[in-house]
Amino acid sequence: MRFAGINQTWLWRGIVIFPWIVAWVLVILFWLRLDTHDHHHHHEEEATKKPDIETNFIGSWELINNDSGVSAMHVNLMPTNKLIVYDATVYRISRLPYPKGVPCVPFQFNNTNLTLQDCFAHAMEYDIDTNQVRPLKVTVDPWCSSGGLAPDGTLVSTGGWNDGNKTVRYIRDSCSDCDWREHNNIFQEPRWYATQHILANGDFIVIGGRGAFSYEFVPKEGQISQKAYYLPLLYETTDFFAENNLYPFVYLIPDGNIFVFSNYRSILLNPTTNKVVKTFPILLGGSRNYPASGMSALLPIRFDYNNFSVNAIKVEMIVCGGNSPDAFVKALKKEGFLPALQDCARMIITDPNPLWDIEMMPSRRTLGDALNLPNGQILLINGAQNGTGAWWNAEEPNFTPVLYSPDKPKGQRFKGLNPNTIARMYHSSSALLPSGKIWVGGSNPHDTYKDVDKYPTETRVQSFYPPYLDPNLDKFRPLIIQDSSEKKLRYKDKFETHFSIQEGDKLSDDDIKVTMYFPPFTTHGFSMNQRLLVLKSEDIVEVEKGVSYKISSTAPPFAEVAPPGYYLLFVVHRGVPSKGMWVQI
Ligand SMILES: *[C@@H]1O[C@H](CO)[C@@H](O)[C@H](O)[C@H]1NC(C)=O
Ligand SMILES: *[C@@H]1O[C@H](CO)[C@@H](O)[C@H](O)[C@H]1NC(C)=O
Ligand SMILES: *[C@@H]1O[C@H](CO)[C@@H](O)[C@H](O)[C@H]1NC(C)=O
Ligand SMILES: *[C@@H]1O[C@H](CO)[C@@H](O)[C@H](O)[C@H]1NC(C)=O
Ligand SMILES: *[C@@H]1O[C@H](CO)[C@@H](O)[C@H](O)[C@H]1NC(C)=O
Ligand SMILES: *[C@@H]1O[C@H](CO)[C@@H](O)[C@H](O)[C@H]1NC(C)=O
Repeated sequence: MRFAGINQTWLWRGIVIFPWIVAWVLVILFWLRLDTHDHHHHHEEEATKKPDIETNFIGSWELINNDSGVSAMHVNLMPTNKLIVYDATVYRISRLPYPKGVPCVPFQFNNTNLTLQDCFAHAMEYDIDTNQVRPLKVTVDPWCSSGGLAPDGTLVSTGGWNDGNKTVRYIRDSCSDCDWREHNNIFQEPRWYATQHILANGDFIVIGGRGAFSYEFVPKEGQISQKAYYLPLLYETTDFFAENNLYPFVYLIPDGNIFVFSNYRSILLNPTTNKVVKTFPILLGGSRNYPASGMSALLPIRFDYNNFSVNAIKVEMIVCGGNSPDAFVKALKKEGFLPALQDCARMIITDPNPLWDIEMMPSRRTLGDALNLPNGQILLINGAQNGTGAWWNAEEPNFTPVLYSPDKPKGQRFKGLNPNTIARMYHSSSALLPSGKIWVGGSNPHDTYKDVDKYPTETRVQSFYPPYLDPNLDKFRPLIIQDSSEKKLRYKDKFETHFSIQEGDKLSDDDIKVTMYFPPFTTHGFSMNQRLLVLKSEDIVEVEKGVSYKISSTAPPFAEVAPPGYYLLFVVHRGVPSKGMWVQI
């Protein structure tokens, strides 16, 4: 044969090598195909997903009320666009006397037989449209109490001091003379500095409080709570003399369990079986709860992907600031004000093997608030740089709010904003308003109202304008057309929001986010029940060319991720939020 002369060895080598060459060519082709596909995909995303609109505006402050009468220790925004604000009755004084005709409240002076009259309001309704206040009458002490907005728009307030430590109060400000309904001796154990959280069925759990290493459920109005459930975590994390675990950070997560963070440890509690079902890694670095008083918030919870299974929903939280375990005792004994913590720790609660990821804030902070903003950012505001909670225990106000952008790369997430001129120390609070402004009130590190002091009792109220309220961004700002937008939502159902926008040519689904905010009860640096949800939104249609659009969103999938009640809904255009519209689910 013609080939008979070919070296046998080479023939055999060819037979062996040829399939290898074919295989490698196939592998390379496959890899190239994947690669081009990948690049293509990437390009597509880059082409349509425009980045958030940046602004150099670092916020601004406005004084909106020179004397609101009651110092804002506790605050909750109501679906009526009013804030319910209250202090403690223990001072027996405020700057807001009861109007003529309202009977004063008799009280025993300092546990003596002497009966005096308290003629001052310790609670008020603050109208955010007019900045006017209406005195409310609270008689059993809500000092350092807890609260939450019930599904029907009633504020449910629990616990407090002394005769108020087992009280449940209700207020629904749907009329011009609505006032508190108080029910005493409802709880089995005293709830002073406890945390309240709404559950999927609309009921509330109340966890902890001074000397109460347990939790209870708020019964139907007027009924008595039958049982306090012992929670060893609360006992085990109580620091000798300082506590440092009051007002624990509490969150409801998608599987229905309750996340409880106490001092430096955290667990998942099943509120049905009353079992601890998970223990998280310890957070090192110091104490985070009252009186060390760090801040905490959930990062936005996103449903903007195609998977509503419980395990697909990621819930991540931050814990920022606080102080060292001995800071309270040092301040109390007048041995100095220790520097507050400057770290901020992030953890994915729903991760099978969660770990803390630590970042540093631009400044130290205790006694601050962490508020979710409509566009997904988080605002750290108020508080001090040294010391702890409790009267006279803090120094060096932290005047500078800090913006946290959780989606930016690590190292670029914090931004210092325009400083305040008013010290907002212990017993100050803040609230996100439908306008996107932040209502800032309170500060009273004394056992009475003090007009003249280094840190006087504050009844002045301010608005803080976060960077997204830059007037230069107004042309990009969506405006929700409420009359043609849906306000009653049902879990998992699609609903439409109609909005106009000045510079909104060729909007695509990716340019718009629809978010929902549960208005929290804020006191002592923790905003109970607070959460921001990012909905799956798509199928944007231009209703009037270049003027208005409709976007279809899918309501949150179930009540464990979005407890029933009122939410503020925002349309966010590349980081620029509309004003909020009240919706109900
Ligand atoms: C607060 O008081 C100052 C000084 O009297 C006054 O100029 C200002 O207009 C007042 N602001 C409000 C919001 O009432
Ligand atoms: C109240 O009583 C305590 C102890 O009984 C006493 O030390 C204190 O001075 C009293 N306060 C006032 C304002 O009389
Ligand atoms: C208070 O009044 C009761 C009875 O009226 C009397 O027995 C008691 O001694 C009084 N206590 C004080 C501190 O005055
Ligand atoms: C709760 O209040 C009662 C008085 O109503 C008081 O005797 C008790 O010591 C208080 N408990 C706590 C922990 O403050
Ligand atoms: C949804 O997510 C869960 C948990 O991550 C996963 O097990 C499931 O396969 C996902 N379903 C789909 C349709 O992607
Ligand atoms: C606050 O803490 C810093 C850092 O330790 C310290 O330098 C400063 O003196 C403290 N301020 C006060 C008022 O104690």
